[in-house]
Amino acid sequence: MRRWIKWTVGLLLALVLLAVGVATAGLLMAEARHNRRIAVSVAPFALPVDAASLEHGRYLFTSRGCVVCHGAGGGGREFVNNGKGIRMVGPNITPGGVTARYDVADWARTVRQGVKPDGRPVFIMPSEDFNRLTDADLGALVAYARSLPPLPQQAAVFELPLPVRALYGFGVIQDAAEKIDQSRPRSQQVVKAVTPAYGAYVANMCIGCHGPGLSGGRVPGAPPDWPPTANLTSGEGSVMGRYPSAETFLAMLKSGQRPDGSRVREMPFSALSQLDDTDARAIYAFLQTVPARPAGRR
Ligand code: HEC
Ligand code: HEC
Repeated sequence: MRRWIKWTVGLLLALVLLAVGVATAGLLMAEARHNRRIAVSVAPFALPVDAASLEHGRYLFTSRGCVVCHGAGGGGREFVNNGKGIRMVGPNITPGGVTARYDVADWARTVRQGVKPDGRPVFIMPSEDFNRLTDADLGALVAYARSLPPLPQQAAVFELPLPVRALYGFGVIQDAAEKIDQSRPRSQQVVKAVTPAYGAYVANMCIGCHGPGLSGGRVPGAPPDWPPTANLTSGEGSVMGRYPSAETFLAMLKSGQRPDGSRVREMPFSALSQLDDTDARAIYAFLQTVPARPAGRR
């Protein structure tokens, strides 16, 4: 009996030590990954100055989701707080914030490629959603962000549980810079119209959550109380049967509710409700053409 207890205690101790060792290794690797330098080249492009482009930039800033994490005025915003140790705040990106000394290439590298001016990766920001932005759209977006009235400093905040950070360390959770194919040529201009091609362009903003194949599933690193994202393809477990027409789909984007009145959780409706008619209808047209995949394959 004594011997049995000794063995059990010994085994438990060994397991605890192993867990501590793995977690420590994960955290050290997370630190190293977070501080790694990524070399990416950014071809220069010009910022527009006309009023119509600034207005287009304001539209993109709102409808593509920058407002969700950086606030309507760009001053920074708490975008996750589950009250159980997961809290995230996007930084101030007005001229009074982290972007004060950004040049145009710095903006492009950060937003489109997930790499900050010092070469380190953004951690939480979903730059993979913005990687396909054309020079014209990115230019308008940046021109608008640079025109925002400066607001006082607000740094980014990441309060994440230890396992999430360790999983990042082990590469199970990836940052945007590694999800992005950094050698892929930039997007060419797509004509804004209700076509699947333009819808595919707009729907890039859905891939960070719904996955590159749009079949949904758990968002790696998202709070555990989030539901899995929905399958937007026509494959097994698809939700698209609920949206037999563009009208029903647009109503959901505007209201945040399904046709039966229940609430869709954790979608950034403050942004999605602002998509204009053409953009929203184009997404719907595109979703009709996406190759079928079973739910959860990302
Ligand atoms: C889901 C939340 C989220 C969305 C959406 C988002 N950001 Fe961010 N952004 C962040 C966080 C968090 C940081 C802090 C950097 C990091 O992730 O490590 C950040 C950092 C930045 C930075 C500064 C990076 C630095 O530290 O030098 C810029 C510039 C920026 N975002 C621009 C944008 C623009 C423009 C958009 C819209 C196209 C956008 N972001 C959308 C969360 C977000
Ligand atoms: C920040 C993450 C996030 C982004 C970005 C996002 N979604 Fe979602 N989406 C979710 C989550 C989570 C669910 C599951 C919600 C639930 O089960 O209540 C969901 C569910 C859905 C549903 C199913 C609604 C239903 O009837 O149950 C549709 C359709 C949808 N998303 C479309 C989109 C489209 C189109 C985009 C891009 C324009 C998008 N989503 C962007 C997180 C996101």
